[in-house]
Amino acid sequence: MAMKVAVSLISFLLLSAYVAEAQVFNVKKYGAKPNSDISKALLSAWKDACASKSRSQVVVPGGTYKLNEVLFEGPCKAPVDMKVQGTLQANGDHSAFKTDGWVTFQHIDGFSLSGGGTFDGQGAHAWSKVNCHEKRNCGRPPINIRFNYVSNAEVHDITSLNSKNFHINLLGCKSFNIQHISIVTPENSPNTDGIHIGRSNGIKILDTSIKTGDDCISMGDGTHEVDIEKVTCGPGHGISVGSLGKYPNEQPVSGIRVKNCTLRNTMNGVRIKTWPSSPGQSTASDMHFDNILMDNVGNPILIDQEYCPWGQCKLQVPSKVKISNVSFKNIRGTSTTHDAVKLVCSKSLPCENVEIGTIDLKYHGPEGAAKTTCLNIRPKFSGQQNPVTCSKKS
Ligand SMILES: *[C@@H]1O[C@H](CO)[C@@H](O)[C@H](O)[C@H]1NC(C)=O
Ligand SMILES: *[C@@H]1O[C@H](CO)[C@@H](O)[C@H](O)[C@H]1NC(C)=O
Repeated sequence: MAMKVAVSLISFLLLSAYVAEAQVFNVKKYGAKPNSDISKALLSAWKDACASKSRSQVVVPGGTYKLNEVLFEGPCKAPVDMKVQGTLQANGDHSAFKTDGWVTFQHIDGFSLSGGGTFDGQGAHAWSKVNCHEKRNCGRPPINIRFNYVSNAEVHDITSLNSKNFHINLLGCKSFNIQHISIVTPENSPNTDGIHIGRSNGIKILDTSIKTGDDCISMGDGTHEVDIEKVTCGPGHGISVGSLGKYPNEQPVSGIRVKNCTLRNTMNGVRIKTWPSSPGQSTASDMHFDNILMDNVGNPILIDQEYCPWGQCKLQVPSKVKISNVSFKNIRGTSTTHDAVKLVCSKSLPCENVEIGTIDLKYHGPEGAAKTTCLNIRPKFSGQQNPVTCSKKS
């Protein structure tokens, strides 16, 4: 009997400890109703969760809700987990936004976002009106989800749908894992990068599917230690480091590892791109691409230091971004362009220590077999290359 009492007392204590630990702030309790605007309710739930002294949970249950431009600001007293089970819909009119973020999480240490729900950016109208992809300076429509200075965080099991601009943007983030998420926009939607990382350190993107109209994953200046594994891209423009060298005072990029990924029907495969006539000098190093399947991909392997879309720069002035310590290994599949391997480095700062491992890329088209181009680079080779890379040229 005493034993039984002791056991129930212990379970009671454990249960209370558990309940105390995971305080739940459900937007329903803040007046949120399906098919209505829950901005106020969600911000109030966030405020209370963020003030909680122990780990807490913000819950958006199943259903479809309207959500305005919202900023979830930290720092919080303890880690906060946000579970979005329903669908959040943005205003389709981008001129209604004051900033370039729809849902922004900022200055938070200890955070997770999950729940199986969807962030629907309702981007179709913005795509038809905005021409940022063609202009150097333009008003930018909002990014679906922004993380500014968020650390020790995890994002998993959510969908980002039809963003007006980039889907997910990481700025100044540290120790941040993205796992098993889904990003969906049509192929013809401009500037809808799946995940953009800038000035961040220690980022993992695993087991994720990205279908979009621009880069699948892009990494800007100041990005360090990124692991991308088991990501499937396509349609879209592929996985890219850069573009770099467009602005003054850019920070170096280092430690990029892309492994076991599949690119399907993308305009490019894996690429490093830098602008010519850069206003400042910078570096990009320690970037490794390994075990990548290219299925119907244009320019599967590409270093492009003459990246100058829509004639926005002076091609004659070489890029001042130094690229070094790069490897491309176990890259196989089919190319939709004649140029299967194109390594065009800067005339003033040639690429250094680039290793080309086993490559097997096939092209079937009017120009004949797959071709390689090498400029201002002397790669090291290991394994076998098909097509033969940089034959007698460099
Ligand atoms: C990556 O692929 C290789 C070879 O197919 C396999 O041995 C390895 O376990 C894979 N790694 C991950 C993280 O899936
Ligand atoms: C490149 O790698 C070598 C060793 O292989 C290392 O000594 C050097 O510091 C690296 N350079 C950069 C810029 O990372």
